[in-house]
Amino acid sequence: MTIMNKDVKKVLIDQETLQSRIKELGKEISKDYIAKDLLLICVLKGAVLFMADLAQNIEVPLEMDFMAISSYGNSTESSGVVRIVKDLETSIEGRDLLIVEDIVDSGLTLSYLSELLKGRGVRSLKICTLLEKPARKATDITIDYVGFQVPDEFVVGYGLDYAEKYRNLPYIGVLKEEVYQQNN
Ligand code: XMP
Ligand code: MG
Repeated sequence: MTIMNKDVKKVLIDQETLQSRIKELGKEISKDYIAKDLLLICVLKGAVLFMADLAQNIEVPLEMDFMAISSYGNSTESSGVVRIVKDLETSIEGRDLLIVEDIVDSGLTLSYLSELLKGRGVRSLKICTLLEKPARKATDITIDYVGFQVPDEFVVGYGLDYAEKYRNLPYIGVLKEEVYQQNN
C-alpha cells in the first residue's frame, strides 16, 4: 500500500509499477552487457534510489561509481553547462559505461556530461534514465534505456527532490502548487 505524503497532489507512478519496470530494464541491460566491462555511473543525488534497485536486477558483473554535478545559471532551467562537484574515483579508460540518471528534461545536462566522459577514452557509453520529459526533442542526444515518459510537470520522489525533500518517497508524484508558492 502506498503511504501518501500530504504535499503530494497525485501519484504518477506507484511503487509496484516502478519496480516491475526496473526489473525489465535490468533484464535488457543484462542481455546487452554480456562479456563487457560494465561500470554504472550514478549521477548524484537524484539517481541513487534508482541505481540501487536497478543494479540488483542486473545479472552480469558490474562495478559502480558516483558523480555529483551542479548546473550553472538559474535553477529552474538547465543551461547544460555543469560543474563537477564530485568526480569519479575509477579510471574509465577502455570501459563500458552506463550513466544512470533520474530524469532527462532538455537533455542538455546529459549531453554535456557524456561528452566530458567520452573524452576520457571510454570503450562505450550508454545512458539509462528512469524518467524522460517530452522537451528532450530539443537535443539530439540518444537515451538508450528509458523507464517512463512523464508529462511536463515537476515530479518528486524515488530520489527526485524539491528543495532536497521528498527523495525518500517510494513512488513518483506531483507536488501540490501551494508547496512551491510558500517558497517563492
Ligand atoms: P536537462 O534539461 O538538462 O535537466 O535534461 C535535467 C535535470 O533537471 C532536473 N529536473 C528535475 N528534477 N523534478 C526534479 O526533481 C523534475 O520534474 C525535474 N525536471 C528536471 C534534474 O536535476 C535533472 O537532472
Ligand atoms: Mg539529475
